[in-house]
Amino acid sequence: MNVLLLGATGQLGRPLLRQALAAGHGVSAFVRRPERLDLAHPRLRAVRGDALDPAGVAAALPGHDAVLSTLGGSPDVVTQGARHLVAAMQGSAVRRLIAVAAAGILPLDDRTLVRDLPTFPAGFREVSAAHLRAYELLVASDLEWTLLCPPALVGGALTGRYRVQAEHALSDARTVSTEDAAHFILGELTAPRFVRMRVAIAS
Ligand SMILES: NC(=O)c1ccc[n+]([C@@H]2O[C@H](COP(=O)([O-])OP(=O)(O)OC[C@H]3O[C@@H](n4cnc5c(N)ncnc54)[C@H](OP(=O)(O)O)[C@@H]3O)[C@@H](O)[C@H]2O)c1
Repeated sequence: MNVLLLGATGQLGRPLLRQALAAGHGVSAFVRRPERLDLAHPRLRAVRGDALDPAGVAAALPGHDAVLSTLGGSPDVVTQGARHLVAAMQGSAVRRLIAVAAAGILPLDDRTLVRDLPTFPAGFREVSAAHLRAYELLVASDLEWTLLCPPALVGGALTGRYRVQAEHALSDARTVSTEDAAHFILGELTAPRFVRMRVAIAS
């Protein structure tokens, strides 16, 4: 497939880019600084742009089968980036979006969100609120989205062994490796199982 990838220079985006190319996909990496990609490949194309620029995001979309987004870094980029991406996709033929939020926006048995637990780290509240707003934008859209909600992303080898669960927090979810999270995203790209769903993941 031909995918547009936002966040290719990030902690999760880097292994996702490598795995996507290894799997035979064509990747347009939408990046602020192409020199940060550190990678040359015949199926990799760098598209310089800023996720906070709606016109730039819309211009990058045509010609792709799907969008993968591992945008992050600040609450503003999480929410505004999602806002511009969803708006651009709604006006285009590109319907499939696989994006990444965080485990805090998943509900527990009693429907309490993980982020509303008293034990939820105060330092994550702002970015978690941004992920929640991005999730609400997806729900309000008519796109075919999947929102991966990982706990802490860590290093480590690709194992392909991890737990996933739709629309519900996994008990004991502590970490997942960036390689395994990327593996899930690419599996979902080629064989969608969780369209219009949040997905919990953990090693
Ligand atoms: N890391 C974790 O433990 C963890 C856990 C749970 C959920 N998450 C979520 O998972 C997502 C990915 O996490 P991560 O650790 O891979 O994030 P990250 O390392 O901070 O990477 C963020 C990516 O977004 C790009 N970006 C930021 N602002 C941009 C802009 N204005 N325009 C275009 N690109 C922009 C960055 O590009 P530059 O190179 O230009 O900065 C980078 O490629 C985030 O939403 C994060 O909140 C992370």
